[in-house]
Amino acid sequence: MSSPALKITDLKKRYNNGTEALKGVSLTVPAGDFFALLGPNGAGKTTIIGISTGLVNKTEGSVEVFGHDIDKEPELAKAQIGLVGQEINFNPFEKPIDIVINQGGYYGIPREEAIPRAEQLLKDLGLGEKMNVRGMELSGGMKRRLMIARALIHKPRFLVLDEPTAGVDVELRRGMWEYLKKLTSEGLTILLTTHYLEEAEQLAKHVAIINKGQIVANGTMNEILALHKDSNENNGFRGGKLEEVFIQLTSEN
Ligand SMILES: Nc1ncnc2c1ncn2[C@@H]1O[C@H](COP(=O)(O)OP(=O)(O)O)[C@@H](O)[C@H]1O
Ligand SMILES: [Mg+2]
Repeated sequence: MSSPALKITDLKKRYNNGTEALKGVSLTVPAGDFFALLGPNGAGKTTIIGISTGLVNKTEGSVEVFGHDIDKEPELAKAQIGLVGQEINFNPFEKPIDIVINQGGYYGIPREEAIPRAEQLLKDLGLGEKMNVRGMELSGGMKRRLMIARALIHKPRFLVLDEPTAGVDVELRRGMWEYLKKLTSEGLTILLTTHYLEEAEQLAKHVAIINKGQIVANGTMNEILALHKDSNENNGFRGGKLEEVFIQLTSEN
């Protein structure tokens, strides 16, 4: 049996200011999965991603990426992952093509190999015409797509996206989901966080819902949707099914 893309066991994080961001989180992202990590703001999603990608130190627990422990084999663990972080974090004066090629440099990919690959990625993501403008000239949605191209340059087996569609308009969002779906059909494992529950409902195979540093639901999409309690009451409001489960599990009372 192949190792899962991500195996997190009893993960705890206390930030220096005392905030207990994670209170013992365990979750597994199977290889080849499209996994949605959902939760309200401040639940701990970005902290989980930060620890898994080596950007944030954990307090307790263990994390393995495709069987590589992040403490024992940090370089091997990191090499498996492409990260699209929550914040836009490229140099706005650089050109998209250079941003993607230079990222390849961090992984030891020679320029002559990186150039055609970067061009292809940027084209696939609809940035073919924008390769040579300055990063700051891109729209919000284009910046996100540039970050996806950059995250894929070293051919990671595992793509992690932290709210990649925040601030992206409906049409472009749909295009991005289609692209991600195509990548999973080619064998890439995807973990993402998003606020767009309806889209997660349509795309994700597995879902975990986190609230205040603890996992409150974890299973296949169908298992999570089955937690939905049908009520005949008409509240005058109806979201998608996943949205209702999410609200049941994360609301204050
Ligand atoms: N660098 C930090 N220092 C102190 N507290 C932090 C830091 N980063 C995040 N937190 C806190 O940890 C908790 C989880 O944050 P985060 O992982 O960003 O949640 P999410 O991504 O789900 O919105 C929040 O209470 C947040 O304020
Ligand atoms: Mg976050």
